Amino acid sequence: MLEKRIRNQSLMSKIVSAHEAASLIKDGMVVGMSGFTRAGDAKAVPVAMAEIAQTNPFQITLITGASLGHDVDKILTEANILERRMPFQVDITLRAAINRGEVMFIDQHLSETVEQLRSKQIGPIDYAVVEALAITQDGAIIPTTSIGNSASFAILAEKVIVEINLNHPLELEGLHDIYIPTKRPSREPIAVMDCNSRVGTPYIPIPIEKIAAIVITHEYDSASTVEPADDETSAIAQHLIRFLEDEVEKGRLDMSLNPLQAGIGSIANAVLKGFAESPFHNLRMYSEVLQDSTFDLIDAGKLDFASGSSITLSQSYAERVYNNLDRYRDQLILRPQEISNHPEVIRRLGIIGINTALEFDIYGNVNSTHVDGTNMMNGIGGSGDFARNAYISIFVSKSIAKNGQISSIVPMVTHVDHNEHDVDILVTEQGLADLRGLAPRERARTIIDNCVHPDYQSQINDYYERACARGGHTPHLLEEAFSWHLNRQQTGTMRLNNNKG
Ligand code: COA
Repeated sequence: MLEKRIRNQSLMSKIVSAHEAASLIKDGMVVGMSGFTRAGDAKAVPVAMAEIAQTNPFQITLITGASLGHDVDKILTEANILERRMPFQVDITLRAAINRGEVMFIDQHLSETVEQLRSKQIGPIDYAVVEALAITQDGAIIPTTSIGNSASFAILAEKVIVEINLNHPLELEGLHDIYIPTKRPSREPIAVMDCNSRVGTPYIPIPIEKIAAIVITHEYDSASTVEPADDETSAIAQHLIRFLEDEVEKGRLDMSLNPLQAGIGSIANAVLKGFAESPFHNLRMYSEVLQDSTFDLIDAGKLDFASGSSITLSQSYAERVYNNLDRYRDQLILRPQEISNHPEVIRRLGIIGINTALEFDIYGNVNSTHVDGTNMMNGIGGSGDFARNAYISIFVSKSIAKNGQISSIVPMVTHVDHNEHDVDILVTEQGLADLRGLAPRERARTIIDNCVHPDYQSQINDYYERACARGGHTPHLLEEAFSWHLNRQQTGTMRLNNNKG
């Protein structure tokens, strides 16, 4: 059995316990760990690191692809191991430590981390800890359910610890396409001409001597936690589908649309599911995370091909997909996140990017990350990679949050992740605002009329009309621009006193 996973006999001597492998990691080191939206994460070594830290405290900089599963960020935070963390996370315990200022979190576009590592602007990486399906005869690593930043971590690190996870089916081999961009400033074009283009190798090539330790594991990926579609997310999907039908009628798209990208989270997953009932066909995805909805669309015969950096599924979908990999494998590719999110490729393919906003303002600036401009939620993830470069950049959100105490559309966002220049379409369950070609005052009217919840209509109109009376290209009442947020901090609701709804 193990020979199929560790194909060079000389590497058998490198097999050690998770504890022995973890003890190689010392205070002050920079560690690059596999894991992207809970998929393909290193599972045993980080837990052993936390055990070691109980008696021998140490701290590291931890860089991953994106979020981790198995409560690893929680466990490492509680063990006080994380001095610095990048580029994305979704863990409640880590989030709290970041917001207390205890962990220095660097929230970064997901396509950029390895560019900075490669050009030595950050790093260097001491150890890469990478989950693998197998190691080839030559010492190359075959990743599992995600690639994320693992390939560059392994290539750039001083030493590599490999976790061979026997629970991942060997049938995953061949799904990966590892391509590392050539050196700048004379970089060659990245020859991804379509979602299914293969431009690299199905393994991560590293010198065999770099492998410092191998740990055998048997754990499944953590299941994704997306909520099922509800009335609001279904309405958002319907607005979006009607808009895209209209684009087809106007001759701007055909019925197979352009390749789709859908962000993380319940809303984006539910919206993508809505395409199963749509008239579109022969769809393609060039995205980051392949969620449950991807496989619904394949099963519905709607989606021809999906390219991503990870496969992150709920438990029932994981059983369905991994027990039937033969059925899906010709329609899937996993790529490094710098390629799945690469501006050059996103522009070339003309991606329709669909991401989620925490809040947006009357002019179309989007906040995806900071509650009240202060507290980190998750991070920008890949949303900026796509929003800036997409053919059509779409942001979706429910019009209200927290039982209506929050309006997702506010006079001015308290933090800008995606500025008005990068946002084409905004959608809530109330309707869709098409901002293309509109000046700020036109944008505001369209957003207010189409996206705002009825409970906040009079309040937002009042703000906008008084701002317009004062004048300006982008009218604002600076002294009131954050009054809704302040009101919620003070009274628990964004509804102002004079708002009767
Ligand atoms: N202010 C404060 N909290 C808000 C809010 C606002 N304006 N809008 C939503 N929330 C809260 C919700 O109430 C919910 O809280 P809960 O977890 O306590 O229930 C939480 O934020 C998540 O919102 P939800 O409506 O469930 O949406 P989601 O699961 O789709 O997540 C984002 C939305 C924005 C947090 C998520 O999409 C994200 O992190 N995006 C940034 C990264 C990204 O876009 N990556 C895409 C490339 S893959």
